[in-house]
Amino acid sequence: MDSRTVALIRTTFKAVAAEEGGSETLARSFYSILFTDYPGVRDFFPAAMDAQRDRLVHAISYALDRLEEPDKLLPFLAQLGRDHRKYGVQPAHYVAVANSLKSAIRGCVGDEMWTDEVAAAWDEGLANISGAMIGAADKETSPAAWTATVVECREVLRNLSIVRVQLEHPMEYAAGQYISVQVPSRPRMWRYLSPANPANSNGEIEFHIRSVLGGWVSPAIVSHTTVGDQWLLGAPLGGLGVPRNTKRKMLMIGCGTGIAPLRAQIMAMAQRRVNPKVHLFVGGHHPCDLYDLQVLSQLAVANKWLTVTPVTEHEENPWWYYDSGEPQVELPGLEPRMTGQIGKVVAAFGPWADRDVQIVGSPSMVQTTKFRLMAAGTQAKSIRHDPLF
Ligand SMILES: Cc1cc2nc3c(=O)[nH]c(=O)nc-3n(C[C@H](O)[C@H](O)[C@H](O)COP(=O)(O)OP(=O)(O)OC[C@H]3O[C@@H](n4cnc5c(N)ncnc54)[C@H](O)[C@@H]3O)c2cc1C
Ligand code: HEM
Repeated sequence: MDSRTVALIRTTFKAVAAEEGGSETLARSFYSILFTDYPGVRDFFPAAMDAQRDRLVHAISYALDRLEEPDKLLPFLAQLGRDHRKYGVQPAHYVAVANSLKSAIRGCVGDEMWTDEVAAAWDEGLANISGAMIGAADKETSPAAWTATVVECREVLRNLSIVRVQLEHPMEYAAGQYISVQVPSRPRMWRYLSPANPANSNGEIEFHIRSVLGGWVSPAIVSHTTVGDQWLLGAPLGGLGVPRNTKRKMLMIGCGTGIAPLRAQIMAMAQRRVNPKVHLFVGGHHPCDLYDLQVLSQLAVANKWLTVTPVTEHEENPWWYYDSGEPQVELPGLEPRMTGQIGKVVAAFGPWADRDVQIVGSPSMVQTTKFRLMAAGTQAKSIRHDPLF
């Protein structure tokens, strides 16, 4: 695409974002046009859409903003296209989405700004995005969705469960990727979860799920999952992972269940003969939140290239935490626990200039840690996190 076309799309987007609550208005208007003009499409979406409303529109704007970087954009769109097969999306639906988005944008910026040239630029941009997603979906031979049976559900903290599922057919995902999951009690409410183990021929996946206060899906998973439940999983997504034969050292920072995709990568690396050095910082609010230290300790003992430093914001456990009174066993292989905000603690070590960095956790933890590291001198291009947008 030429730079004029891209500039026209960006300018219209900026005009929308410049308005107070512009992105929110755009998302609302987009869905209202889509569901009115194409009523059949409504059934793909969950009944309540408040929490998720901007995900689709956000992703399209992310893609439109990167039309000049096909190397990064096309793999991202290909993954999304393969994943969207789980909804049963057909090429005609892409036309519906594109038309509705154009009408919504036009409504936001006004007819004066929406010239023929601007409209043509949007047609081209959206056709490129749809084409990449449809093309990847057409080529894919793996299932549109995988059925998985829950074989174990263990509450490891009062708001965090480990769920192991058995896939009907094994899935090939790269350690570090994430998967869109639908549980039976929350139809059409797909949520991303990150496997905590590498892909295997047995088709076993372990997920770590934290119950988010007021959330639609995670509290239901943590409280109501039982052995035998049938889950549905979409195609793998995301770009985390450590390439084979890389010499570049790694810095991994994970908070809460953010440890899952990092642990999966370390387990995958443990099966290789040679690895670069990896320093993993694993964070939580209180010492009792560090639910997976036993496994990390075993990995650190067995793999000399791995250093694991636990970090907690508070020195002590909260008053309501039940302490069994048994003496705490020192876990071998781990560095001494540090106290402080994780981004601050890691950035205090210096710019980590020789490292590739991965950050995993809540959106606010990822952003804060990224800014702290950049302020300490880490280059933005060395830092990776998911999702991209
Ligand atoms: C790439 C990726 C991988 C993920 N992997 C995992 C995983 O392995 N395990 C896991 O437990 N979760 C994971 N999540 C988060 C998960 O997908 C859901 O967003 C989360 O479980 C909340 O869903 P919900 O339906 O309960 O909340 P919603 O009903 O979607 O949201 C309710 C409220 O909680 C807020 N909220 C949503 N997510 C979070 C969060 N993570 N922290 C704080 N507030 C939040 C929302 O902004 C909203 O205000 C991942 C997310 C991404 C983007
Ligand atoms: C035009 C290109 C498109 C892009 C870039 C895109 C991107 C996304 C993204 C990133 C999400 C959130 C993550 C997910 O659940 O997978 C999403 C959700 C979704 N998309 Fe798309 N999408 C596109 C087109 C379509 C089309 C044509 C349809 C079919 C009508 C569709 C249906 C959905 C549905 C049903 C959801 C779930 C929404 C929710 O959970 O609230 N998408 N899309």
